[in-house]
Amino acid sequence: MGKVVVLKHPLIDHKMMKIRDKRTGTKEFREAVSEVGGLITYEITRDFTTIPKIIETPICETTVYQLEKQVVIIPILRAGLGMVDGIHNIIPTAKIGHIGLYRDEETLQPQVYYSKFPKDIADCAVLVVDPMLASGGSASKAIEILKSKGATDIRYIGLVGCPEGVARLQKDHPDVDIYLAAMDSHLNEVGYIVPGLGDCGDRLFGTK
Ligand code: URA
Repeated sequence: MGKVVVLKHPLIDHKMMKIRDKRTGTKEFREAVSEVGGLITYEITRDFTTIPKIIETPICETTVYQLEKQVVIIPILRAGLGMVDGIHNIIPTAKIGHIGLYRDEETLQPQVYYSKFPKDIADCAVLVVDPMLASGGSASKAIEILKSKGATDIRYIGLVGCPEGVARLQKDHPDVDIYLAAMDSHLNEVGYIVPGLGDCGDRLFGTK
């Protein structure tokens, strides 16, 4: 079973205070979401493997270490976009793919309306990004699609999870580790995480 890691860090907690507060405006909300994306990434990349390489400094030869795998960030549209800049600041060499999903009105299942990934995704360390792990349906579908393209090394990064979403993702993809800034109580009857932060996409893009 994959790990579920709820990161405990004073800076993450402080920024989550801002993110959760309904009085926080779009600009500050967007900045804080991006910054938490960066802080989570710093923590979760500790176990990334590096390979040694000999280079010359201006003084002499020495051994340095570079990331073994190409990293790919895959935001789930649209709220996932809010965390991308922060993650990319920490790993500027990362490639960025995208996946867009909507919920079919009849079947209620997530359907893909857009996807674009690097060709070599099978060899990459993939970070699937969606701030809210609510029902887990979108994240599960996104990961299913990435696996169908050959990806095997996949981590999920979000801001807020709930037991329902975590259980769904662990059931569908037990090989995927889940990293969150907070774990909340439950999903309400209209699919919002409680206490949560409201509609993350609307708050990021000022659409409400
Ligand atoms: N998506 C959101 O933006 N917020 C929630 O609480 C759940 C899903």
